[in-house]
Amino acid sequence: MTTPLIELVDIEKHFGPVIALAGVSLSIMPGECHCLLGDNGAGKSTFIKTMSGVHKPSAGKILVGGKEVHFTSPRDAMAAGIATVYQDLAMIPLMSVTRNFWMGQEPEKRLGPFKFFDFDKANAITMQEMAKMGIHLREPTQAVGTLSGGERQTVAIARAV
Ligand SMILES: Nc1ncnc2c1ncn2[C@@H]1O[C@H](COP(=O)(O)OP(=O)(O)O)[C@@H](O)[C@H]1O
Ligand SMILES: [Mg+2]
Repeated sequence: MTTPLIELVDIEKHFGPVIALAGVSLSIMPGECHCLLGDNGAGKSTFIKTMSGVHKPSAGKILVGGKEVHFTSPRDAMAAGIATVYQDLAMIPLMSVTRNFWMGQEPEKRLGPFKFFDFDKANAITMQEMAKMGIHLREPTQAVGTLSGGERQTVAIARAV
């Protein structure tokens, strides 16, 4: 039997007296695609945020590749391979595609005791990854605000990938 990529077991999340999640379990096998549906206030956002390190569950277990994990931040979840694309896309319109693409995990190059943002590498990878998704950027220094809505979504998805 294959191990699930991600498994959430009996997850509970309480915000003071509000019980947002009351024992939710989910297991995702490699190659599967799931869709989470529910009424407003059902707890979808809370569940996704718990899976991606924003919220700590009040009870329950999260397993990645069969091993229990305790995320303390979205960065921990990302390191475990869980990335989230939010509806607002979390983009800064006035900054370049490259800057947005690498936000928070910029590749660096060293020059003696100094560290610099490695723009050449960052630009090249950004162009390449965007092209893989069918978006051919004019230039990686182009501000995200000049892109169409669909192109912006693609930047957000390519970044998550
Ligand atoms: N940070 C928070 N503090 C208090 N209550 C919250 C918080 N986040 C969500 N809730 C409550 O948890 C419940 C689930 O909300 P949410 O996960 O946003 O639902 P959905 O995304 O399915 O619409 C709601 O009752 C909401 O008011
Ligand atoms: Mg929501």
